[in-house]
Amino acid sequence: MKTLVIGTGGREHALALALSRDPEVTEVHAAPGNPGIGAFATLHPVDIMDGADVAALATSIGADLVVVGPEAPLVAGVAETVRAAGVAVFGPDTAAAQLEGSKAFSKEVMAAAGVPTAGSRTCSTTEEYEAALDAFGAPYVVKDDALAAGKGVVVTLDRAEALAHAQACGRVVVEEFLDGPEVSLFAVCDGTTAYPLQPAQDFKRIHDGGKGPNTGGMGSYSPLPWAPADLPANVMESVVQPTLDEMARRGTPYVGCLYVGLSLTADGPKVIEFNARFGDPDIQPVLAVLTSGLGGLLHAAATGRLSEVDAPTFSDGAAVTVVLASAGYPESSSKGDVITGVGAANGVADVDVIHAGTALVDDPEGHQLVTAGGRVLAVRATGYDVADARARAYAAADLITFEGLQRRSDIAAEPLGVVEGASLTQN
Ligand code: AMP
Ligand code: GLY
Repeated sequence: MKTLVIGTGGREHALALALSRDPEVTEVHAAPGNPGIGAFATLHPVDIMDGADVAALATSIGADLVVVGPEAPLVAGVAETVRAAGVAVFGPDTAAAQLEGSKAFSKEVMAAAGVPTAGSRTCSTTEEYEAALDAFGAPYVVKDDALAAGKGVVVTLDRAEALAHAQACGRVVVEEFLDGPEVSLFAVCDGTTAYPLQPAQDFKRIHDGGKGPNTGGMGSYSPLPWAPADLPANVMESVVQPTLDEMARRGTPYVGCLYVGLSLTADGPKVIEFNARFGDPDIQPVLAVLTSGLGGLLHAAATGRLSEVDAPTFSDGAAVTVVLASAGYPESSSKGDVITGVGAANGVADVDVIHAGTALVDDPEGHQLVTAGGRVLAVRATGYDVADARARAYAAADLITFEGLQRRSDIAAEPLGVVEGASLTQN
């Protein structure tokens, strides 16, 4: 099977790497990819927002499967354009990607499907904002209706801050605060049916102890030894299958990864958000412990044949990912800082250095790896259990340096589910 992964980040690197380790996959291509993916796959230039461009590339290399990584091209309709060109694509059409593209839409689908989630109101005027904030009370949760690259959600005790965020956004969803540990569950969907992957947790704040601003994710681990064993089955029954049924009923079947962001509340798991893609870095440890082939699974989903393949399987071990971010992240990022030690870290047993925001520049001594984004690298290790994987990940991460490097020292240190999640005390 020839596969093509679209995107540039850590998610795409982890997906491409898992595909490259699947005996069923004969070729891995990525576009545009990144220097880490380029070490084992063929890279191609492409405009990831241009479906015709992606379709032309997929056709020219004879791809059997295209995996569209990020949400922006999915919401823009890249998956359906490539599908229309006759290539199997893992990723939803525009209409189905609205589960991530519009918070109001996802709330409406959840309500229609009877999916447990935070109570909410969609609002567009100051009068409506104020009424909704007062109805739900503090802590206030205000979400931009539209895609906001991780910056659309404000959770605060300060009513004025909540109101100001709503006014800055326009159309927003104001919702009830959910209290409980957060879990990421990824469901591989073929339009009518789905398989869950093993749950993961993502440490979202920049500093240790869950302090400081939210980021795209500073580290992750899987499995969650403390979580109920039937959590995936429960979420499939209460969330994923009803959502798939509702989307199919509407004539917009959901094909791709349905990323269910959950809060494990005292009243059971409730949906915080849906995303139309794999989460990063949350998917990274999950793929590290996947023991069945990724290519066959995603191809079966892309072609509506999930019921014909076995459920994915996972090792008894664990994996931990520690993100290395550049100076200024998450407010800004620093580009061009020279990175050292990646080769040494990659050489450590059971470790993969995943590239998220790196670039290769030419200098008199040859190629030089430099920072090129907020999240720069992710050091991922597997081990017997979470503690073992964690020790290996940090030992390898210690080998990597660049100016202004930021990382947390407490990723997966507390595998009890009491991470920052929705908690306000850590702001
Ligand atoms: P989202 O972009 O929807 O993932 O929201 C970003 C973060 O805001 C989530 O990971 C949660 O930590 C927090 N959050 C979102 N919605 C809620 C909610 N209803 N209750 C508590 N925290 C929330
Ligand atoms: N790790 C959070 C996300 O991918 O949205």
